[in-house]
Amino acid sequence: MIKDCLISGETKVVGLIGYPVEHSFSPVMHNAAFQHLHLNYVYVPFPVASNSTLTQAVRGLFSAGAAGLNVTVPYKEQVISCLDNLDGYARSVGAVNTIVREQDKLVGYNTDGKGFIQSLRSEGVEVMGRNILLLGAGGAAKAVAFALGQAGVSKLYIANRTVERAEQLAAQLLGSTQTIGIELSEKALGTVVDQCSIIVNTTSIGMYPRVEGIPFPALMLTSNHIVADLVYNPVETRLLSAARKQGCKTISGLGMLAYQGAASFQLWTGQTAPVEIMQQVIAKMI
Ligand code: ATR
Repeated sequence: MIKDCLISGETKVVGLIGYPVEHSFSPVMHNAAFQHLHLNYVYVPFPVASNSTLTQAVRGLFSAGAAGLNVTVPYKEQVISCLDNLDGYARSVGAVNTIVREQDKLVGYNTDGKGFIQSLRSEGVEVMGRNILLLGAGGAAKAVAFALGQAGVSKLYIANRTVERAEQLAAQLLGSTQTIGIELSEKALGTVVDQCSIIVNTTSIGMYPRVEGIPFPALMLTSNHIVADLVYNPVETRLLSAARKQGCKTISGLGMLAYQGAASFQLWTGQTAPVEIMQQVIAKMI
């Protein structure tokens, strides 16, 4: 175990590849978890400034004994070409946020969707059989949409400013879930909001520093709606604050951040992560 944060000859290194990585919460979150469980691991950020060196960076770190990696913007898709195998869910989403060495192979996983579902479960919310409205159709929406499909949602509406992107994502999910792409406009949202019990913001609207943004007309919300936001900075976005005032149950992005990290942690160490500790340390940083 690490005593007083001392690194020994047996310390295992895990880390984060992306660019930029300075403002990531993952190092603090994972290092707190390792210390809490007295695991001799350390989590280090690795800025990879150029995509032309991504393969070298990934292969080099594992050649030098890294026990696992997280991958963040802008490499979640490109990193797939550096790996030997992909887990089925990561293959469906077409993006990887976690790499594990299994025997001598580098295997890519995506824990974002699982993290989202678990963050809902931790608040007592099950998605199976529900109609859900997803705001946004980017990378985060895709990870969440596939996870919702696997978790057995009944109907999924995807609302996006660029409606073609929503329709494309809906088409990719076809077969597993009934999914419909619509425009992120008051008129289109008004036609589906009463059919949905959970509304999820996956867009960056409302994220620091533009905290005044709101992706959904709050007056359409009733106390029957559960509103989740993937944005975690601020913890209570304008959307969540407005939803709370309408009587909705609200779920912040902090849970997804901690649970996706917890799932990566478990893949690397084989141990259950102390999610509450992880959530507490991130909350202190925001
Ligand atoms: P991420 O990987 O974080 O999801 P992304 O792939 O760039 O990032 O997707 C960002 C999402 O937020 C998209 O759905 C985007 O809508 P468009 O596809 O129309 O670009 C949405 N988004 C970002 N800023 C927005 C804004 N000001 N108004 C409406 N939608 C916005």
